[in-house]
Amino acid sequence: MISYKELGLVNTKELFAKAVKGGYAIPAYNFNNMEQLQAIITACVETRSPVILQVSSGARKYANSTLLRYMAQGAVALAKDLGYPIPIVLHLDHGDSFELCKSCVENGFSSVMIDGSHLPYEENVALTKKVVDFAHQYDVSVEGELGVLAGIEDEVSAEKSHYTKPEEVEDFVSKTGVDSLAISIGTSHGATKFKPEQCTRTPDGVLIPPPLRFDILEEIEKKLPGFPIVLHGSSSVPIEYVRMINQYGGNIKDAVGIPEDQLRRAARSAVCKINIDSDGRLAMTAMIRKVLAEKPSEFDPRKYLGPARDALKELYKHKNINVLGSANQA
Ligand code: G3H
Ligand code: 13P
Ligand code: ZN
Repeated sequence: MISYKELGLVNTKELFAKAVKGGYAIPAYNFNNMEQLQAIITACVETRSPVILQVSSGARKYANSTLLRYMAQGAVALAKDLGYPIPIVLHLDHGDSFELCKSCVENGFSSVMIDGSHLPYEENVALTKKVVDFAHQYDVSVEGELGVLAGIEDEVSAEKSHYTKPEEVEDFVSKTGVDSLAISIGTSHGATKFKPEQCTRTPDGVLIPPPLRFDILEEIEKKLPGFPIVLHGSSSVPIEYVRMINQYGGNIKDAVGIPEDQLRRAARSAVCKINIDSDGRLAMTAMIRKVLAEKPSEFDPRKYLGPARDALKELYKHKNINVLGSANQA
């Protein structure tokens, strides 16, 4: 058993309590490689923001679970080296079984998500409670989910989304003992969050998505006053990166994300964790494509991964300062 405490990590308890009171959200950025991790930590140290490092089961397989643990420990050391030791959480994103959550708890994670949102309600309750009962013995935080997001990614898929039912949330939280609850109010995973026919279009062709269901969020807040709420699928899909990818040989059609002003509004409420993965993928891919297209003879990975890392860092700083409001909260 390797406790996250030995690695210098923290769980989400205090961070969420402060975020709910302070009207901001902690960034939860996914990573699976060194450049992403360097960009996240540098951006969060420079903006004095706490951070949740998120690892999906696919990312864990990709990077190797032992190496990941050392990377998280390295992230803590890097923040110290940079002169400002911010609070860092290592979180399992979309855990799909008790066994996976248990393995993460035993290997240095300070927080896990058990995603039973696709299961019948009572099965979701039972599975989530089992994970909570195990994780809480070690002070590890647990995120559960009610409601289903649309969108398809490697390990996360849902043909049909449905919003969280506010009438279920109190019962779910009290029966399971979760520390935070992910909800579905109209966000969606990936870079194509809505079908074009669900959106309106500006004269220059930019898709404007339907607004988030703040009415549902407000009802949930009334049922669970001060309880930490999580938003998945919260990339904004910056049009400049989509255009850059397409300009340099890519083919991403009908990309559309969640507008930043809506995320800012959500962050001021009980939403205290906002998950962002796709935006980082877009920024990184855009820069790599640009460098390789402009310098076709370049074959040193540092020459294209370096600029990609710089773009990522700027993206995360912007989010912490202007979208999530987490800057200066560490
Ligand atoms: O919400 C899911 C995350 O973006 C992780 O995606 O399973 O492709 O690593 P992944
Ligand atoms: P995006 O695809 O919008 O970045 O969402 C990521 C996410 O929810 C990770 O759990
Ligand atoms: Zn997610």
